[in-house]
Amino acid sequence: MLTYTAINQKVLDAEYAVRGPITTRAQQLEEQGRKIVYCNIGNPQALGQMPLSFLRQLLSLIEYPELLTRPDVVGSYAKDIVERARLVLAKHPPGTGAYTQSAGMPFVRQAVADFIARRDGIPTRKEWVILTDGASKGAQSALLALLRDPQDGIMIPIPQYPLYSASITLYGGRQIGYHLDEGNGWQLSEQVLTESIQRASAAGIHPVAIVVINPGNPTGGVLTAENIRMIVRFARHNQLSIIADEVYQENIYSESLRFVSFARIMHDMSEHSVTLFSLHSVSKGFLGECGHRGGYLEIRNVPEEVLAQFIKLQSIQLCANTVGQLATYMMVSPPQPGDESYALYVHERDAVLASLRRKAQILGQGINRIKGMTLVSPVGAMYAFVKFVLPPERGVDPASMNTEERLAYEAKRDTDYCMALLEETGICVVPGSGFGQQPHTLHFRTTFLPPQEAIEELVGKLKAFHEQYTSELELASYADHQH
Ligand SMILES: Cc1ncc(COP(=O)(O)O)c(C=O)c1O
Repeated sequence: MLTYTAINQKVLDAEYAVRGPITTRAQQLEEQGRKIVYCNIGNPQALGQMPLSFLRQLLSLIEYPELLTRPDVVGSYAKDIVERARLVLAKHPPGTGAYTQSAGMPFVRQAVADFIARRDGIPTRKEWVILTDGASKGAQSALLALLRDPQDGIMIPIPQYPLYSASITLYGGRQIGYHLDEGNGWQLSEQVLTESIQRASAAGIHPVAIVVINPGNPTGGVLTAENIRMIVRFARHNQLSIIADEVYQENIYSESLRFVSFARIMHDMSEHSVTLFSLHSVSKGFLGECGHRGGYLEIRNVPEEVLAQFIKLQSIQLCANTVGQLATYMMVSPPQPGDESYALYVHERDAVLASLRRKAQILGQGINRIKGMTLVSPVGAMYAFVKFVLPPERGVDPASMNTEERLAYEAKRDTDYCMALLEETGICVVPGSGFGQQPHTLHFRTTFLPPQEAIEELVGKLKAFHEQYTSELELASYADHQH
């Protein structure tokens, strides 16, 4: 029998907080009949977000082409959707049940390249695009290829999305954390980057790449063009590749901010020596098609023989799933003005984005009114990384701890807090320590995906819970004092 200790140590070591013990407990409580508000994961359709009709209608015809022979069915779809289904089947006659080329269906790769060229006004080639099962697989391919030696390190943000820390552990590399600047809208600081790379080098770690998540998970921050230029200069100076996780590029909720891609900035800087891996996905944005596992990896500034290695990596898993590839096609090639399906598409897209924007505001304002909690109001993505303070525990002197002990102590505190929040209120959030946080601080991450009424209710429940939790801690400390 395979025993626990016989499992690959790297598998045992990998951690993924977003689906950790708090979520497991939430599922148990739900099975016992408790109502749980799942704010732990960016899974929009699980929380009631509707899929876009365009995507689902088109997929339905492609999945079951016989429908196209039935006039009653054909008559019930918008004309352009029927035409598009015929076009897709003409471009890919085997349909969804056959493996595709390893890098994906050529016409979809071309559509992705056209999308990037349109979005950024820069040249691109379909050969640089690989279709993947969600952005996760693209990120993992890049990490796998980059980590040659156990001392090779990847710079990752703190806080970060745990796909990165877990995958680095799995592939046997080293994490080089760099703190995001909470006081400056979660931008990156050149000084912090430099200090963190110097510390890593001094510890014998060889940095090979930097991961940047923009818009940010778990921070909800959006990077400025100037910040991205600084990162590109930093990468060039330190000979790092860049992994730009841009899956939230459609999720920006401030009029004064817009998404700027790394590819665009590097093009403007005539930067051809830094390798760029950029990731996109059907899971986020306004589609929220997480379950369909579609996405792409675009690789710039590498020789052909390196591209060939990435395609080989993809071929080891044969190909990305076909429905995910097609969902990616629909993301990058939506209906156009004049198409019968256009008006509904725009209506549904705008409704999803407007609702997310409203909920981000409600959550931001509501949480900042709770005594003991502060939040850099999210302007992007689907998350808020809430900072909270707890009264000191009697008999515990965090000031006497070294950084590691302090982080472990704070990880226990934020985890206990989130577990108690779940037990008390049914709200499931993720402790900040699962993403990483500055020592001396406590956070939790919540999504703002539940319906608006649930977000309003959530703010009220959080307030009541926080007051009760902190006053109990104060009382316990006071009682200890009396003894
Ligand atoms: C920053 C970031 N990157 C990648 C992913 C994974 O996306 P996908 O579903 O495309 O694999 C997520 C999912 O939450 C994410 O937040």
